[in-house]
Amino acid sequence: MPVVRDRTGGRCLHGGALVVTVTVVTDTTIPSVAMRDGNEIPQLGFGVWQVPDDQAQVATEEALRVGYRLVDTAAVYGNESGVGRAIAASGVPREDLFITTKLWNVDQGYDSTLKAFDVSMEKLGLETLDLYLIHWACPRADRYLDTWKAFATLAESGRVRSIGVSNFHRTELERIIDETGVVPVLNQIEVHPYLQQAEMRELNASHGTLTEAWSPLGSGKGLLDDPVLTQIAERHGATAAQVVLAWHLQIGNVVIPKSVTPSRIAENFNATSVTLSDADLEQIAALDNGTRYGGDPSTAHFGLPEFADT
Ligand SMILES: NC(=O)c1ccc[n+]([C@@H]2O[C@H](COP(=O)([O-])OP(=O)(O)OC[C@H]3O[C@@H](n4cnc5c(N)ncnc54)[C@H](OP(=O)(O)O)[C@@H]3O)[C@@H](O)[C@H]2O)c1
Repeated sequence: MPVVRDRTGGRCLHGGALVVTVTVVTDTTIPSVAMRDGNEIPQLGFGVWQVPDDQAQVATEEALRVGYRLVDTAAVYGNESGVGRAIAASGVPREDLFITTKLWNVDQGYDSTLKAFDVSMEKLGLETLDLYLIHWACPRADRYLDTWKAFATLAESGRVRSIGVSNFHRTELERIIDETGVVPVLNQIEVHPYLQQAEMRELNASHGTLTEAWSPLGSGKGLLDDPVLTQIAERHGATAAQVVLAWHLQIGNVVIPKSVTPSRIAENFNATSVTLSDADLEQIAALDNGTRYGGDPSTAHFGLPEFADT
């Protein structure tokens, strides 16, 4: 029986309204967060960037076995087929899963978006997608508005339950909202203790748009060795990765850690059992130093060399 739980001890998130239901999976609970369109998303999911197609099937099957229900892939990851095979093999009822994929930059534009969506769905082997995201705004290409209109069409058709964006800054986010009246349910952006994105998170929340954190563990580039994080972890009898994930959950992010290592897949899933104190949260807040491990959405035009900086 789902129960309502506020993981923040009463503070309101997402522009004033936080509704969290808890689904019991074996002995671990994964909260679900209400999105502005009325659908719900598990707050902790599984990312598969840089995982080759065959390995993506194995890793995703393991993640689904452990209890993850949200899987985050993208057309450009080249592993939608592997994720699709894992879904089919898992035996998990479709309605219990939450599958996200993303439109690649080269496919932006109204008609090309509709075509690219069909290709992704074919690979995933799905009739309906839970969440479709524009992968990067690519502001200089200036096709994100037409792309968003195609997303609205897909949502109206019922083939996508929820639509959102990724790597959108203020100008692009506000433009698509102003010109279409359709507000993204979430904005997936790089967030971790070294890049906390207070301004973007606040902007998202002001539109009732959730913040979903990519590279939430710092993408294997040293964040988890930070002494502040390892000391907090020691105090909780947890790992640095679990502390970082607990931090994301407690500040209201949806989070999608990636691992191909079964012990880490389970370890990350069990981060929901770690509760950080206000003092822990303050220590982590002080770690923000602006380190970006991935591209800057204002300038990144991956796959579109004609719009690149150099
Ligand atoms: N929208 C976007 O533009 C965008 C960009 C980047 C990522 N993403 C999404 O976000 C997801 C996560 O981001 P990410 O893949 O960059 O990085 P991440 O989840 O921050 O970190 C993954 C790295 O950390 C390691 N790791 C995982 N769990 C660990 C643990 N418990 N202890 C120690 N190391 C651990 C993994 O190694 P092993 O796999 O070897 O275990 C891997 O090297 C992606 O998979 C993708 O779905 C989206």
